[in-house]
Amino acid sequence: MNLFVTGGAGFIGSSFIRHVLSLGQDHRIVNFDKLTYAGNLANLESVAADPNYRFVKGDICDSAAVTAAMQGCDAVVHFAAESHVDRSIYEPGPVIETNITGTFILLQVARKLDLQRFVHISTDEVYGDLAPGQVSDENFHLRPNSPYSASKASADLLVRSFHRTYGFPAIITRSSNNYGPYQFPEKLLPLLISNALEDKHLPVYGDGRQERNWIHVEDNSRGILAVLERGRLGEIYNIGGADVIENLDMVRRLLALLHKPESLIRYVTDRPGHDRRYALDSAKLIRELGWSPRISLADGLLQTVNWYRDNSAWVAAVRDGAYRTYYDKYYENRDSSLRHFNPSGVKAPA
Ligand code: NAD
Ligand code: TYD
Repeated sequence: MNLFVTGGAGFIGSSFIRHVLSLGQDHRIVNFDKLTYAGNLANLESVAADPNYRFVKGDICDSAAVTAAMQGCDAVVHFAAESHVDRSIYEPGPVIETNITGTFILLQVARKLDLQRFVHISTDEVYGDLAPGQVSDENFHLRPNSPYSASKASADLLVRSFHRTYGFPAIITRSSNNYGPYQFPEKLLPLLISNALEDKHLPVYGDGRQERNWIHVEDNSRGILAVLERGRLGEIYNIGGADVIENLDMVRRLLALLHKPESLIRYVTDRPGHDRRYALDSAKLIRELGWSPRISLADGLLQTVNWYRDNSAWVAAVRDGAYRTYYDKYYENRDSSLRHFNPSGVKAPA
């Protein structure tokens, strides 16, 4: 297949591209990416010279650019998004634009060009906050709580409507929290690891008892490829890891792997609207497509910690400039009192 991959310079998209090209199959890839602060072509250095790979810089909200670049492609794998919950709280505009309008434009163009498959990459966050012990399968209600998750749920519903109304050949994947190499250090794991490596404080939001369902990014990439090649059109597939753990547990595991003291932990102001628990039921993907996660949390965390330790130049480059401004603005003045945290005028919960 000729694949039109959006957001391929980001964390999961670049893992997917490296995975597909490493298999040496017939897939050819056009990577269409705007290169926002989160897009980094260094993530794709290992495949840049592959004759089956081509990069096109562009915005998914630009219909003409998308139309030109999508010519000759058979399928879309749509990763491009503003992907960070905290940023979506501070500045929701770009999130709505890229995640909703951008997805709509891609659907329109792909439909016009009569593409055979459209895999939309979504998230477990669309299901919202789960009760203790609860898990969400693909039929669970949609109750997104942040501007980010609301934008992803909106895009999911647009994809669903295109399938239902126009018979458009779309499939949705919803994965849990990904971790692994090349993740931008605004997300929990790379932020904690890179801070700990410099003996800086590890900011834990609220009481740190929120639960997340962790999946190694390479397991997610394998799941997405299985869905692309063999998934049923019009379906939704959850792609979740085996482990659901509290953030504090994750912080302690990382500190142990890095041989750093727990005194580095700092409890800071909670995220407004913070979801307590995500946990996916991925039985459908396991049953229908024979997928299962292969990388245990213990192995995956060790590999990830070692990767960040060994790739300090990559970390230093992405933490320059825009990241530094973000970190200083939202972390340096963030204290442990909900009342005192008010970046960009966001109203803290009572
Ligand atoms: P990321 O932030 O690392 O990468 C996003 C990529 O999209 C970047 O390369 C960026 O340059 C590109 N991009 C952003 N706006 C664009 C635009 N308007 N036009 C073209 N390119 C644009 O994100 P990620 O963590 O790799 O997430 C990829 C996808 O997976 C997203 O759709 C996200 O919602 C979803 N997802 C992520 C996770 C996770 O844990 N990271 C979990 C579930 C689902
Ligand atoms: P994050 O990586 O932003 O992913 P998401 O919000 O999409 O799940 O955060 C994962 C969890 O870690 C979430 O419960 C928020 C928490 N968190 C912290 O405690 N401190 C931090 O500095 C960050 C970035 C996140």
